[in-house]
Amino acid sequence: MDKQIRILVVDDEKVIRDGCRRILTDNKYEVICAENGEEALSFLEKEPVDVILLDLKMPVMNGEEVLEQTYRLYPDIPVIIITGHVTIDTAVECMKKGAFSFITKPFQMDQFLLTVKRASEKRALELKARQYEEENVRNLYDLTLEKSRLKTIINCMANGVMVTNRNMEIVLYNPALMRLLEITDHMDSPMPVTGIIKDVNLLRALNDIQSEASSGKKAISQEIELKKNILRAISAPAYGPDSSIVGTVTVLEDITAFKRLDAMKSDFVNMVAHELRSPISAIRQQNSVLLEGLAGPLTEKQTEFLKRGREKLDQLLDMINDLLDMAKIESEKQEHHHTETDIGKIILDVITLLEQRAEAVGISLKHEFTNLKTVQLDPERISEVINNLLTNAINYSPEGGVVTVKARCLNHLLEIMVSDTGVGIPASEIPKIFDKFYRVKEPKTRKVMGTGLGLSIVKGIIEAHNGTIKVESTPGKGTTFRVLLPLPAFP
Ligand SMILES: Nc1ncnc2c1ncn2[C@@H]1O[C@H](COP(=O)(O)OP(=O)(O)O)[C@@H](O)[C@H]1O
Ligand SMILES: [Mg+2]
Repeated sequence: MDKQIRILVVDDEKVIRDGCRRILTDNKYEVICAENGEEALSFLEKEPVDVILLDLKMPVMNGEEVLEQTYRLYPDIPVIIITGHVTIDTAVECMKKGAFSFITKPFQMDQFLLTVKRASEKRALELKARQYEEENVRNLYDLTLEKSRLKTIINCMANGVMVTNRNMEIVLYNPALMRLLEITDHMDSPMPVTGIIKDVNLLRALNDIQSEASSGKKAISQEIELKKNILRAISAPAYGPDSSIVGTVTVLEDITAFKRLDAMKSDFVNMVAHELRSPISAIRQQNSVLLEGLAGPLTEKQTEFLKRGREKLDQLLDMINDLLDMAKIESEKQEHHHTETDIGKIILDVITLLEQRAEAVGISLKHEFTNLKTVQLDPERISEVINNLLTNAINYSPEGGVVTVKARCLNHLLEIMVSDTGVGIPASEIPKIFDKFYRVKEPKTRKVMGTGLGLSIVKGIIEAHNGTIKVESTPGKGTTFRVLLPLPAFP
């Protein structure tokens, strides 16, 4: 509902005041009366009104003077002059001085109400306009405040921020970016991104994000090595209002400390595994000496205990080897040495190594070679692959199982298959078994010691050879791992 319009009637004649009050109140106006100019002005000092009805001829202070004062102090309040026929010239004069209108006594009711209505409307419009203006000013202020707040936040961030436009020019950056990239000179913006970013991978990522080909690519994350520090850069597209890519936003984070910690962890694991390997290998060897009867005859019970002990030692050694391999891969010391390799011999060596162990748990190892020739491989790494796959096949098969290694050379491929008649892997687990530390949680395999690293190491080695590994399995029946390695075409 609109606010009630408040009218101040200033007249020395009580009849007029009362008359005005009655008519205006009947027409839903709020009415205040003053007997003279002074009273009116002192009321206005205290409270605002919307319209003033002002008599010209009054004692103490005549209407003209009151008009001058109100117009000076309250120029927004419309003043309607009440005038008799005698003072009509003065009323016209008052109009020139800013009065809104005048009405003559005796009042004609329609005329009177219409004039008051028009003055009220003018007042209401003016108030509305002023309100809009104030809102506008406030909005502008808020906007400026928001902008400067955003700027402050970006400038205070510990992460570096860099925004590029369609032309691969930097249009926004923060002090953290300068610090992380070790830039000390002032940078004009916009400036070509190649001016400060030297890392080819990051430049390629920014280009990719912008190019049509990669549309839909959400973000590219990569590590950048500087002289002293290592940074993580996450770059994402910046979209315009029509959802087209208008540039890129990159956030840089210093991960040097994290990397250092990670390297320390790998070193620590490596060191512990190393320290454990020699004494455990020694214990295993002594165990074997006992089992072979070289330190005197054994009872059946003693043989059984020693065999069980050796099984556990073998599993422990597997774990240690996994940890050593992993640490090697993580510290990126792993180098591949490809040489002419007799793959058949490699497989046979691993089988010989594991034969005793397989026999101990009642598993027979078989092999089938077809059309094998020497191939270009890293013999040590491929031996690890076969060792891991065979160890798994033995570990995850019940007594009486058969493990078969098949190898053959196809056109430009070497195929190695390791099959077992073991517990199998549920289909839902297959996508996860190559993950680091992942082990299937099954009651049947719980007693097998392991790190969950073996297959992730296997996958890493095969991928480094540009090969693939696939697995097929039927729970309760058995599993087959199939490795394909590309062979260089011989002339
Ligand atoms: N031949 C297999 N038969 C059944 N399950 C297997 C076989 N090979 C691997 N798995 C499953 O995959 C998991 C991951 O294997 P791996 O990475 O070698 O780790 P680990 O042997 O140390 O547990 C194993 O825990 C096991 O559940
Ligand atoms: Mg394993």
